[in-house]
Order: sequence, then structure tokens, then C-alpha cells
Amino acid sequence: MTQLDFAVRVMTESDLPAVAEIEAGVFTDWYRANRKPQDPLPERSLDSLRYTTSLDPEANLVAIAADGAMVGFILARTWGRVGWFGTFGVPTQLQGLGVGSTLVDHVLGYLRPRADIIGLETMPESGPNLGLYTRAGFSVTFPTTIMELSLVRTADRYNGLPADELRMLGAADSGARRRAMVGIRDISAALLPGLDYSSEVAACEKHELGDTFLVEGPSGSLDGFAVLRTVPFRSRDTSGRGYIHVLAIRPGADERAVLVDLLRQVWCRGASLGLTQILTGINGRYRDATALLLESGFRGVRAAIRMASADSLPDAFTVGAGVNLSRWAG
Ligand SMILES: CC(C)(COP(=O)(O)OP(=O)(O)OC[C@H]1O[C@@H](n2cnc3c(N)ncnc32)[C@H](O)[C@@H]1OP(=O)(O)O)[C@@H](O)C(=O)NCCC(=O)NCCS
Repeated sequence: MTQLDFAVRVMTESDLPAVAEIEAGVFTDWYRANRKPQDPLPERSLDSLRYTTSLDPEANLVAIAADGAMVGFILARTWGRVGWFGTFGVPTQLQGLGVGSTLVDHVLGYLRPRADIIGLETMPESGPNLGLYTRAGFSVTFPTTIMELSLVRTADRYNGLPADELRMLGAADSGARRRAMVGIRDISAALLPGLDYSSEVAACEKHELGDTFLVEGPSGSLDGFAVLRTVPFRSRDTSGRGYIHVLAIRPGADERAVLVDLLRQVWCRGASLGLTQILTGINGRYRDATALLLESGFRGVRAAIRMASADSLPDAFTVGAGVNLSRWAG
């Protein structure tokens, strides 16, 4: 059912202002309809969209109507052989005309040969989205809990690390950097088959969104890392929030000790930049990690529904061990 004449093509740099405008418009409407009254969302910065699209430039698509107007967009990325799409939007007045499902079909055509797990996260309130994704071959898997660490409430626990004890990837020499990137790949793959966070680490660094913190084990190998975004995605964001995009710990390492080390680094860097809260997401697949985060001072704030295409590796649908924090939405 297509009542709108449109074509899908790869997103380009010149599309980004229209993507930012559509995204702010549809999510303002969505929040007003499903959550609480609010002012219009500020647009996402073009830099944040450049970072997002840099991970897999060909994966990000736009729908263009016959008159040249943009009538939808979808962002997508791969982390090794794990791919996901989102965020995704069609202007409110044009929804229900087939643009969204066509964008999903095209993005799946891109991701299928490149990924063994294809996933997404969506809002629990959105029944229509669950219908759309189920028809596209996705099944619900473990929910993701979005958690928040208040830097004020946890000051006693994490304050006190001298700045020169931060182990930041950006300050590493080329040998240490190479070893860290190998460790990042190893840890990712040990947590989920095919997962590789090194592209995410490199993209955050290249676009100067924040810092990557490292923890080494007694033998000098990497035991854990965390990517902290300190730059807001939206202009005029004065919330004081930072985001842990990714935090992963080597299976078999002392998870509690490595997590505390990473959080002390994140806390000190965040506090020095004037942040007041750090958000992150932990998927329910990593059952023990959710409890560990609560013990470490995080509080649950909301949930997201995670779905994976039914032909994904079974790991997407089974409980796993370890600490692997990230969202499949961005
Ligand atoms: C999700 C979204 C991108 C889908 O785009 P779209 O162009 O409306 O999608 P389609 O027209 O292809 O419709 C897809 C399905 O959703 C249904 N649908 C779309 N809008 C709907 C609405 N407002 N209410 C109920 N169902 C709706 C359609 O009927 C269709 O279902 P069907 O295949 O059973 O007929 C769009 O609705 C949107 O921008 N929503 C707000 C932002 C959002 O939720 N983004 C995704 C975050 S995970």
C-alpha cells in the first residue's frame, strides 16, 4: 500500500539538516502523544549525525518524494557482525503511507549480508512500532534497562581519583593504542559472537564526542573499557548528562573491581566537565550485570524493548554472562 510517490537512497551530508528537522518534529509529536507535554525538542546537532552516519555511511537512508522533499530517514550501523537500526522517523502527517516499512526493507537489505545479529530498540508505549517490526521479521528479546548514575549521590564512592591516573585512549602512545584496540575487539567478541566495538570507539574519538577509559589487568592485557560521551547530541541541552555508549568487561576478569575502576574514571572526568548524571543502558541478556550496576550506584529510569530479527544467531535470544553495556538505538 503506497499512496505516496517516493524513492529511497543513501543519506548524504547535504541531507543532514532535513534529517535533524524531521527527527525533532516526529519525536516532539511522539513524546506529546505518549508521554507528557513538552516544549519542542531541539534538533540534533549536525556533528552528532555525522558521527552516527560515519560508522556505516551506506547504511543510512532517506526517502525522497517526487517533489524532492524528504519524507523519512533511517539511521543504521554495524559493530562487527552485529547490526542495528534506529533512530528512524517519518513526518507525523505522512505516517501510515508505507514510507517507514519501505525504509526498514531497504535497511535490512543492507544489513543482512553484513550481520549475523540484526536488532533494534523501541519505546514500550509504541504498539504500532512493535507491529511494524514484527511484520518485518523481528521478535522481542530481553528488554534494556536505561540506568542513571547521579554524580552527586555517588561522590563519596567515586570521587578522589587524580586526573593523571585516568587511563584515556586519547592519551595513549601508538603501541598502547594498538594493544588497546586489539583488547577492545577481543572483549567484544567474547561477550557476543561477531561483536566488535572498535568502530564505535574510533567514531566517538574522531568526532570528539568524549573519551574512552581503559582498565588493564595484572598481565597488562585489557580487562575493560568504557566510552563516555560528554558532548550532548542536541543543541541547547543543559541537562548535565553524559552517556556511557559502551562499557565492556573481559569475561573472567574481576568484574566488580574493573567496573569500579571504570566508574571512578568516568565519575572524575564527568565531574571535571560539570556533568551531574551519567546514563547508560544494560540489556537483560546480561542478567547479573543489571544487579551489579544497581550495587554500583546506578538507578533504573526506564526501559526499552529490544527486538532481533528472527534469523539472528540464537545468542540474541539467550541469557549471557558478563558485563556489556550499550543501546541498540542512537
Ligand atoms: C515508526 C515510523 C517511522 C513508521 O513510519 P510509517 O511511514 O508511518 O510506517 P508505515 O506507513 O510503513 O506503517 C508501518 C505500520 O505501522 C502502522 N502505523 C503507522 N502509523 C501508525 C499510527 N499512527 N497508528 C497506528 N498504526 C500506525 C501502519 O498501519 C503499518 O502497519 P501495517 O503494516 O500493519 O499496516 C513512524 O510512524 C514514525 O516516525 N513514528 C514516530 C517516531 C518513531 O516511533 N520512530 C521509531 C522509533 S523505534
